Amino acid sequence: MTRISRKDDHINFSMELPTHSADFKDCAFVHMSLPGVDFDNIDLKTTIAGLSLSLPIFINAITGGTLLSKEINSKLASAARKAGIAMAVGSQMAAIENKEMERTFKVVREIYPEGIVFANIGAYAKPKDAEKAVKMLEASALQLHLNVPQELLMSEGDRHFKGYLDNIKRIKENISVPLIVKEVGFGMSRETALKLTGIGVKILDIGGRGGTNFMQIEASRRGIQPDKELLNWGIPTLTSLLEVMDVVKNNGDVIASGGINNAMTAAKSLCLGAKAVGIAGLPIKIILEQGEDFFLKWLENLMYNLKIIMAMVGAANIEDFRNKPLVITGETACWMDKRGVDLSWLARR
Ligand SMILES: Cc1cc2nc3c(=O)[nH]c(=O)nc-3n(C[C@H](O)[C@H](O)[C@H](O)COP(=O)(O)O)c2cc1C
Repeated sequence: MTRISRKDDHINFSMELPTHSADFKDCAFVHMSLPGVDFDNIDLKTTIAGLSLSLPIFINAITGGTLLSKEINSKLASAARKAGIAMAVGSQMAAIENKEMERTFKVVREIYPEGIVFANIGAYAKPKDAEKAVKMLEASALQLHLNVPQELLMSEGDRHFKGYLDNIKRIKENISVPLIVKEVGFGMSRETALKLTGIGVKILDIGGRGGTNFMQIEASRRGIQPDKELLNWGIPTLTSLLEVMDVVKNNGDVIASGGINNAMTAAKSLCLGAKAVGIAGLPIKIILEQGEDFFLKWLENLMYNLKIIMAMVGAANIEDFRNKPLVITGETACWMDKRGVDLSWLARR
């Protein structure tokens, strides 16, 4: 199986499989009857690694490296530019291996010259290739992805997971832009966050379970049906966000992603401390099936609803939102208790 047909398979299967959204039912806002804010003045600006984002949402890594994906990247870049949001490209390894494919990524910069664009490559990449990926796009930051369960379900996938942390450290030391380490939908644990922050990684994208399921996509590609429980592998987005926030606190930026498909889950993520929310599976479906205008309206509606929620808890901006109370209950609270994850910072708000 070549990298090219795999990339197109990912698009095709993610379009075919049903869209799932993260479960945040164990997390509740506290309504404020005297919120003391003006709705029209609510400010949605945020930052990631010091980069200014006009909205706290971006299109996460999806594709590149094939002719189909060039077309898709053009559409994603056009939509991101019109919405004024940041976007990431998919893994650039295909273009590192074959220069011909560079144009399938560079098209994003051509269409969105002023945009905040993230380069993307696997955490196993050679430092010089990581730098090439950044240069290819004149990227604002580099995402390194961690996708062990996906690799294990691919017949052609990687089986050697030793040395990743040292490699990430080498890449970090060589890179000229901020580094984001991201999961792809299996969730980041407290332990992983501790290892990454221990080598100086400051920006973590938790990529929790609940949205796009790459074990399911790989199983569908191979036409196999693994154990149902195996397909549920991973740390749910809410749980992962709480585990990682416990480590990062105010010493870095956390990005929430993994099935964050509506205003309520985006709002809860931002209130819990995420600096921004990444979305991948749903935007590609909306843009390819319903078109750019529909996506722009969808996004506008999501932002409008986010502002309604911020108004109801009295948050004038994203920074202020991070001080508003939230209650964690049910299985998620139980998990935090058993894992010794401290939630007292939430109770003290
Ligand atoms: C078709 C498709 C291809 C993807 N390819 C990549 C990739 O190349 N690199 C990467 O870091 N993540 C990739 N992802 C993962 C997303 O960036 C994201 O982490 C994951 O889909 C969870 O977010 P979601 O539930 O909003 O889709 C891909 C996602 C989709 C849907």
